[in-house]
Amino acid sequence: MHTRMDRRDFILTGSATLASLLALRGSPAFSQPAEKVFSQHLSADLPLLFGADYYPDQTPDSLWEEDAAAMAAAGIMNVRIAEFAWALMEPQEGSFDFKWLERVVGILHAHQIAVILGTPSAAPPPWLTQKYPEVLMVNEHGMTLSPGTRRFTCPTNATYRRLSLAIATQMARTFASTPGVIGWQIDNELTLGDSARCYCRFCREGFQQWLREKYHSLDAINQAWGTVFWSNTYTDFAQIPVPLPSGAPPNPGFALDYDRYQSYANVSFLEEQLNVLHRLCPNHFATTNNVGLADTIDLRDLYRNLDFVAADNYPGFFAIYLSTADSGVSLPPDAVSTMVAFGHDFMRSMKDGEPFLIMEEQTGKAGQPFFSPQPEPGQLRLWSYQAVAHGAMGINYFRWDTANFGAEEYWHGLLRHDRSHSPGFEEIQQTIRELKSLGRDALNARYEAELALCVDPNSDWALTIQPGQPKLKYLSEVVPWYGSMAASHTGVDIVNATQDLAQYKVLCAPVMYIVSQQQADRIRSFVENGGTFIAGFRLGVKDEHSRIVNTPLPGLLRDVMGVELFDYQPIYSEKQTVQFSGPLAGANADCRIWADILNPQKADVLATYIGGDYAGKAAITSNSYGRGKAIYIGAHLEAADLARVLLTLVAMSGVTRPIQAPPGIEVTTRRAGRRTWTYVLNHTAKSQSVTVGGGYRDLFSKSAISGPISMEPYGVRVLVQA
Ligand code: GLA
Ligand code: ZN
Repeated sequence: MHTRMDRRDFILTGSATLASLLALRGSPAFSQPAEKVFSQHLSADLPLLFGADYYPDQTPDSLWEEDAAAMAAAGIMNVRIAEFAWALMEPQEGSFDFKWLERVVGILHAHQIAVILGTPSAAPPPWLTQKYPEVLMVNEHGMTLSPGTRRFTCPTNATYRRLSLAIATQMARTFASTPGVIGWQIDNELTLGDSARCYCRFCREGFQQWLREKYHSLDAINQAWGTVFWSNTYTDFAQIPVPLPSGAPPNPGFALDYDRYQSYANVSFLEEQLNVLHRLCPNHFATTNNVGLADTIDLRDLYRNLDFVAADNYPGFFAIYLSTADSGVSLPPDAVSTMVAFGHDFMRSMKDGEPFLIMEEQTGKAGQPFFSPQPEPGQLRLWSYQAVAHGAMGINYFRWDTANFGAEEYWHGLLRHDRSHSPGFEEIQQTIRELKSLGRDALNARYEAELALCVDPNSDWALTIQPGQPKLKYLSEVVPWYGSMAASHTGVDIVNATQDLAQYKVLCAPVMYIVSQQQADRIRSFVENGGTFIAGFRLGVKDEHSRIVNTPLPGLLRDVMGVELFDYQPIYSEKQTVQFSGPLAGANADCRIWADILNPQKADVLATYIGGDYAGKAAITSNSYGRGKAIYIGAHLEAADLARVLLTLVAMSGVTRPIQAPPGIEVTTRRAGRRTWTYVLNHTAKSQSVTVGGGYRDLFSKSAISGPISMEPYGVRVLVQA
């Protein structure tokens, strides 16, 4: 079944992922984007981007002055505003009113609060959908979305694009040289609506056009998808449908190309606005915000021409749904923080490690129909440090006040409904003060990573189209792998394996269902040159067209892996057990959900299936190839077993842990030249102890430290080395 990844699915997948985490304990001195922000807008070497998301459009104008003064007093240096204020900025088609916005920008500027302006295309006003109902999105069931909320439009529709571009252009002209305006957020969370892909007639035409450009001929399309199956041979581009409900599941190649088209449509929608902003506002930066998880847009494409990555971070989001998902099961204390860390690393990696901005950070109870609990004392500070620890250069807190009306009236900000301070206000104020004192160098240093995790939207989307076993979900596989790798405390980058991988010691690739020739070449030379490649089951099953390869599996990588698959097997109720040997020797593990049964050609066996039809066959193998190693984990393992296996393999690859820390403690390092900042974060509610090697100084206490040091509940330490 072809399913989408919308906000709701994302939550559900997230819960499943977290459930599967049960028992898991677990350069250049400055970046380009920072230069663009700092050189043009600040004289001193002060960090700039500590701010709040502010809604003057929802606030009586009599309070703007009071708000600006209070923000300045709290240490806030910038705001993001106007990203949903289309109706106020263009009350009727073609008649623009920016007077109110100019006034509020002026007030903020007078208080030295810089402004990031949002273009409002996520929330078209009622006059627009009344006059042009064809802009409405059609969801994957063929149902036209109703307006009256936000994020209900088609990314292809020419009228929606024209009107979105018109207001963005007017804003750009009006604010290009307005003092205080520093940059732009285009649209808002392009994919996290309830329906993330559009299936309307305009998208169908757009898809046909996109296919013409990609394949040039119908023959090539028919060949690539294998349309001879079920008599789907196309003789006219206009015959090509979109994957709406039909009599049976869609052709996988067709469905995957449609996902790619939707990603392209969103990127090109954004880039229309971006081109205008770059042309009319050359001194401003432009970005957009997203939640850092696998997505329906290839975020590498989305951020390619933007000045830096911006991400939204709501750790409490998961708490709401976990309670409904797996009742009665207690999650490990770092289940949520692992998910958050993955999100940060994912977003940082979308622009090859450049520092990113948190555009929205949770400040209190958060949610729409349901809301998460108030974060524990210390957690808001901890989450801010966690973002910085993973490469953030600044943080905007969501939101300044709390709305008394609207769908997000329970999304709690820094001020309560009565405008008094929220329970987290003082903690955030203190955190902003501390983070500013880290200084520009620390906030723009590069995150260090010796490990890389391959996350490729092609494999994600293809597996969603055709999971093989209903419980097999891409994100639910990738996040436990990430959590196990992160526990090595040596840093994890997310890659798609199309780039040079030489800087890493270990590359992990869970469910790399599609392997392109380019990816295979990169991986081959990575291993040849001494890297350790650790792949999970379903490696290299398909080519880029989502056709199953016609060689023994794992297809293009079978020489590197030194194995051929004997068979592959979804697992339902039957019990399959894995017995480890050699360097992996340890307690037997259950294999559920999936088993690739391996037939080593050259590789050594590190684990074997016992019992059942495949008793005696290999489950995990290790092959020496060139100067490196290629390990195939054919069995689906529970999180705790996976963690043990991966940490052992990582240790065998020569990666050493600089700091010994128990589960629930995160350690990351950022570097600028010879200076490093190591962040030690206690995500648990209890005091814990970590063991530190020599040469560190505690940034807060200024004293040298080594040996065992204690970490308070939700405590943070920043250790520096010069
Ligand atoms: C998202 C959006 C915001 C707001 C917050 C809270 O990340 O970008 O507009 O909706 O979450 O829901
Ligand atoms: Zn559409």
